[in-house]
Amino acid sequence: MARSRPASSRWTLLLAFVVLVACLVAPGVSVKHENFKKCSQSGFCKRNRAFADEATTQASSWSSPYELDASTIRFENGQLEGVVIKTVSSNEKVRLPLTISFLESGVARVVVDEEKRTKGEIELRHDSQARKQRYNEAGQWALVGGLDLSQSALLSSEAEPGFTKITYGPDNKFQAIIHHAPFNVEFQRDGETHVQLNKKGYLNVEHWRPKVDLPEGEESVEDQSTWWEETFGGNTDSKPKGPESVGLDISFPGYSHVFGIPEHADSLSLKETRGGSGNHEEPYRMYNSDVFEYELNSPMTLYGAIPFMQAHRKDSTVGVFWLNAAETWVDIVKTKSSSNPLSLGVGSKTSTQTHWFSEAGQLDIFVFLGPTPREMSKTYGELTGYTQLPQQFAIAYHQCRWNYVTDEDVKEVDRKFDKYQIPYDVIWLDIEYTDGKKYFSWDPLTFPDPKGMEEQLDESERKLVVIIDPHIKNTNDNPVDQELQSKELGVKKKDNTLYEGWCWPGSSHWVDCFNPAAIKWWVNLFKYDNFKGTLPNVFIWNDMNEPSVFNGPETTMPKDNMHYGNWEHRDVHNVNGLTLVNATFNALVERKKGELQRPFILTRSFFAGAQRVSAMWTGDNQATWEHLAISLPMVLTNGVAGFPFAGADVGGFFNNPSKELLTRWYQTGIWYPFLRAHAHIDTRRREPYLVGDPYMGIISQALRLRYQLLPAWYTAFHEASVNGMPIVRPQYYVHPNDENGFAIDDQLYLGSTGLLTKPVVQEGATSVEIYLADDEKYYDYFDYTIYQGAGKKHTVPAPLEKVPVLMQGGHIIPRRDRPRRSSGLMKWDPYTLVIVLDKNGEADGSLYVDDGETFDFERGGYIFRRFRFGENTLTSEDIGTTGPKTAGYLKTMAGVHVEKIVVVNAPSTWHDRTSVTVMEDGAKSATTASLQYFAQPAGKAAYAIVKNPDVAIGKAWKIDF
Ligand code: NOJ
Repeated sequence: MARSRPASSRWTLLLAFVVLVACLVAPGVSVKHENFKKCSQSGFCKRNRAFADEATTQASSWSSPYELDASTIRFENGQLEGVVIKTVSSNEKVRLPLTISFLESGVARVVVDEEKRTKGEIELRHDSQARKQRYNEAGQWALVGGLDLSQSALLSSEAEPGFTKITYGPDNKFQAIIHHAPFNVEFQRDGETHVQLNKKGYLNVEHWRPKVDLPEGEESVEDQSTWWEETFGGNTDSKPKGPESVGLDISFPGYSHVFGIPEHADSLSLKETRGGSGNHEEPYRMYNSDVFEYELNSPMTLYGAIPFMQAHRKDSTVGVFWLNAAETWVDIVKTKSSSNPLSLGVGSKTSTQTHWFSEAGQLDIFVFLGPTPREMSKTYGELTGYTQLPQQFAIAYHQCRWNYVTDEDVKEVDRKFDKYQIPYDVIWLDIEYTDGKKYFSWDPLTFPDPKGMEEQLDESERKLVVIIDPHIKNTNDNPVDQELQSKELGVKKKDNTLYEGWCWPGSSHWVDCFNPAAIKWWVNLFKYDNFKGTLPNVFIWNDMNEPSVFNGPETTMPKDNMHYGNWEHRDVHNVNGLTLVNATFNALVERKKGELQRPFILTRSFFAGAQRVSAMWTGDNQATWEHLAISLPMVLTNGVAGFPFAGADVGGFFNNPSKELLTRWYQTGIWYPFLRAHAHIDTRRREPYLVGDPYMGIISQALRLRYQLLPAWYTAFHEASVNGMPIVRPQYYVHPNDENGFAIDDQLYLGSTGLLTKPVVQEGATSVEIYLADDEKYYDYFDYTIYQGAGKKHTVPAPLEKVPVLMQGGHIIPRRDRPRRSSGLMKWDPYTLVIVLDKNGEADGSLYVDDGETFDFERGGYIFRRFRFGENTLTSEDIGTTGPKTAGYLKTMAGVHVEKIVVVNAPSTWHDRTSVTVMEDGAKSATTASLQYFAQPAGKAAYAIVKNPDVAIGKAWKIDF
């Protein structure tokens, strides 16, 4: 029988826990730096930086000790194989198998492994059961396609001795020049180098070696202090495999901006990290962590990681995807070079050198040669998947707080939204709904009738999201935990016994979603018969999945914990959160046989690929103006990194926002792809109907604007789901040749609509300065005030009641103008088309519509139209493809029409016109609809309104103006 602890020690533990939880829940001032490693406190980070320093300071005499053995090179079917030799000393050489795959998409993949570990010819310490190989399964979680090898890639015969050249990519315009000694690779497009690996000689594969215990008093030549174990914050990592990091420098010659590698609370254009004015001192870190009260403008790690980076310059975008699930850091340094030393910087070119290093795993890098941001999004998405097309409700407004306290409370909030005529689609329940933090249960006192609550929500097509975390309460009266234990589905300790740690429920176990049996079990838990009290309008929030462990090192799991397949937690840490969401996704797909609705899951932790199964939010922000401001670059960065379904807690999680801040946050939040208000348990209630006049009205107007534009949003989500384009786009995506705009990250474009907004993120501001890149006219969304002038900022009024948003000439924007309580109730509403004519009197736009719920769209059950205006005629043309569900869907939509057309910048020749001629496909004769022309004072565009042209949204038609 286990001995119970003496009472005093139990009390100490309890007290420690209470203090810890208090720290985690009570708002303080700022992040506790001492809880998270700095580079100098992380052995492999320190070693790789020191290695880089040595290579840099000794540049003239430095030679990278890695050489590709020419006699081993084979090239076949788009793939080059060989062995890189690392020379440790004259009699010690390490064999590192190399594979470079040239993919059909034009992406090249470089993998370096370590022969000894691959063959298992190493010894582990401490009787560890861990796998001897370097982790090579990150791709199983992150990659879903795009791996077909190029059939046209060619080994070039021109190469001189010491080089191997491969031509590949579209029209064979790409070339990889592999230098054998020292080993480095240049990736060229049209004869110019855009990406170079190991140019600086920072390649570092820490090979396996046995620990040699030196006689007392003797010291090893190398500093081995962090090789065999590491202690941080009182936790010791036993490191049974010794040091095994991989590092490499990746240069982007001629590129002055790099973007991506979320998640950090920082600018969109990444900063330099080796010190200097305005730069960071620390590398950008990616080690998914629950960082309490995270700080801004910082390279510190946050909850998720996507090691995908884009480098951008005028006319070109390239990038790399560093496929590694272990802790990773990235240093960034920019250098100026000039062909003329007397030019004083004029005409000089900036280049960016990045240095990546991960604690474990293979070196596995994908190199993208663009050449456009669009191409980057597409090819990266081919590999890791595109955003799942969400249900319609998921892109509408979500109302959350920690916590709605009873089912009656939820019903009351629901009624209040209706009473005050504020639209919303989803209400959320945080951890307090559970019976004592046992997930898959309801508190019987506070939520006695969950189904009754869900039914009330369903009456207005609303949904409920409930939280389910990966930590399972460790008590005898928790059947879920009993099963987890008996079926051995939990994460284990280094000695292979079940791991126990602390989270919301107190003592907990963690489901190991790397284990197929655990996934199967998890999927089962969500079945309606198991998770009693849930109806089909219930969806899931996966939180704390970094995983967050209150008493663990850096608030997470020990690195020597063990997962399914005998991988150490160190190997898989960054992919851990994705495995949970992945399992939950499967669960929602399979809740009931025959029920085919698209899942909705919100995740806090993520890795490359999470976009296929979830939305994300930026975690525990604060109710400050600075946090409001940083949400924009954070959301934009996620879009650049292929995970655009992103948002931040509207209102700020910690503390109470002022009414002005809350209002401005809603006006900003309506531009997040994921729009949810959320608040900490200690904050005051702040549902929009509680804030009083004029704020409540202003917030409702902002939300109405989001609902009005849902057709445009859904079309943008569709685009993301087929080609990876960000849903909200930064300046450099839309104007890739305008250098002045590359670093702009406080204004954004909605999909391809030409809608440009710059939210107000400053207290007391009454206007914003919007930068316009091109000479096209832009029009205020509400009153058509004209803004024009390329390469400069324009002052746009933004008093509190105004959302500053412009429409670029040349676009057609689909809307639905009838105010409803939820998006579900808009299903059969008619459309409005806003045609914003450009200087040639033309405009173009598209609309994607489907049932917003099922997977029928995959079998043609959708409408996809292109609208074009030119030569005074508006046409609607089908740009979809048909399938077995097309005809049926079109039939259900037959009664959904266009009820209004607004033409902005209408030509003055229309002033006496009163009608347009409408010709719908299949109609016997043309009809007419009324047109009214509105002149406006100078500075504002004239416009015309066509009322009720009565054309079906799903049909082809033509309207002559
Ligand atoms: C942490 C999450 O970030 C926060 O949004 C949530 O309210 C709390 N966990 C409680 O579940």
